[in-house]
Amino acid sequence: MTTSRRTLMTAAAAAGLAATAVATGTGTAYAKDGGRAVKEHFGTLADGTKVDRWTIRNGRTRLSVLSYGGIVQSLEIPDRHGHLANVSLGFADLDSYVAGSPYFGALIGRYGNRIANGRFTLDGHAYQLPVNDGPNSLHGGDKGFDKRVWSVEPFERAGNVGLTLRRVSPDGEMGYPGKLTVRVDYTLTPTGDFRIDYEATTDKATVVNLTNHTYYNLGGEGTGSVYDHRLEIAASRYTPVNKTLIPTGELAKVAGTPFDFRRPKAIGRDIREAHQQVLYGQGFDHNFVLDKGITSRPEHIATVGDPESGRVMRIATTEPGVQFYSGNFLVGTLAGTSGKVYRQGDGFCLETQHFPDSPNQPGFPSTVLRPGQTYRSTTVHSFSTR
Ligand code: GLA
Repeated sequence: MTTSRRTLMTAAAAAGLAATAVATGTGTAYAKDGGRAVKEHFGTLADGTKVDRWTIRNGRTRLSVLSYGGIVQSLEIPDRHGHLANVSLGFADLDSYVAGSPYFGALIGRYGNRIANGRFTLDGHAYQLPVNDGPNSLHGGDKGFDKRVWSVEPFERAGNVGLTLRRVSPDGEMGYPGKLTVRVDYTLTPTGDFRIDYEATTDKATVVNLTNHTYYNLGGEGTGSVYDHRLEIAASRYTPVNKTLIPTGELAKVAGTPFDFRRPKAIGRDIREAHQQVLYGQGFDHNFVLDKGITSRPEHIATVGDPESGRVMRIATTEPGVQFYSGNFLVGTLAGTSGKVYRQGDGFCLETQHFPDSPNQPGFPSTVLRPGQTYRSTTVHSFSTR
C-alpha cells in the first residue's frame, strides 16, 4: 500500500465527510448522515484474489476490517485524555496474516475452539475434521473462516454504521456437513460501541460455534503486557481441560482458584500459580461458564480496565460461555501493526461462544443447527474511560 493511499483515506475519514461519495483511484469513501465507510486495497492473495480493508467510524471509535478472514485489523478508541490508540493486535500487511497469524482479529468458524480428535457423531453419522492442534481440530480446521475471503457491504441505519460480511461455506468444507450460509454484521453504534451479530442457516444438520478472535491491549497494541489490566468475568464456574485443552466435562467452581474473576482482578495476579489448569493452559486459556446462561438478548458478562490509559471495555453477549485466553502463545516471534514484537501476555482474548468440544459433550449446551433453524449470536463491546 502506498503512502498516498493511506493519506487519502485518513484525510477523508478525518474530514468528517459531507454527503458526497469520494471516488479515488484505489477505493471509495461513502458518507451519509455523519456515518462513514472507506474501502481501500489491502493486498493480493497468491491466487490473485484482491483483499480490501474497510474502515468505518462512529462516535470516536474507528474500526478497520479485512475482507480476508473478516479480520478486525484495527480498532481505535480514546483514552482518558481523548487520545486514540489501536487496541487490537494485528499486522500492517496481508502477507503477515497469510504467513501465519494466531487468529489475530479473525472471524472463527465453523467451530470456535477445539473438537477432540477432530471427530464427532451427529444423527448416527461420524464426521472427521482436519486435525490442526495436536490431536484436535481448532477453530474450524486448517482453513477455517479466518482464512477465507468474505463479501463485504457497508450499511448505515438509525445512527449505526456497519459492515455486512457474507459467505457460503460449501457442504463438506473442512469436514463439516451442510452448506452453511453465514452473515456477520460488524456495527459501530452512535456511542461507539462495537457490536457483532452472527447469523447462519444450513441445508443439513451440522454444528456451528462462531466467534471473533480479537486480541485486545487497552493500552494500545505493541505497548507491552496486559497483566496489569483488571478483569471481571461473571462466571462462578469454568470448564477444566485435559493436557490437550479439551474440556473434561466438569463444570468446576472458580471459588478459591486462579479462575475466580468474579471481582475485578489483575490478569497477571494469579497467572504464575502452580495450579494444574494454569500449567495446562500455560496461563489462562479456558472457557468460563457464564452465570447468565444463554440469553435472547446480549447481557453483561465481563469488564476489563487498563489503569494506565483509563480505557474500559465492557462485554455483553447472548452466548453461554467465554474463552479467556491470556496470549500465552505469543512468544516474541511476530512483529505487530506498529512494528513492535509481541511477547507472552501482550494481548488477551475474550471469545464469546458455546463451550469447546460441545459436539462430544452431551452435558454442554448444544451447538447443533438443523435445516429450518437460524443460528443467531450477538456480542457487544462498549468502551468508556475512568
Ligand atoms: C484460542 C485457543 C488457544 C489458542 C488461541 C490462538 O484462544 O483456546 O489455545 O489456540 O486460540 O493461538
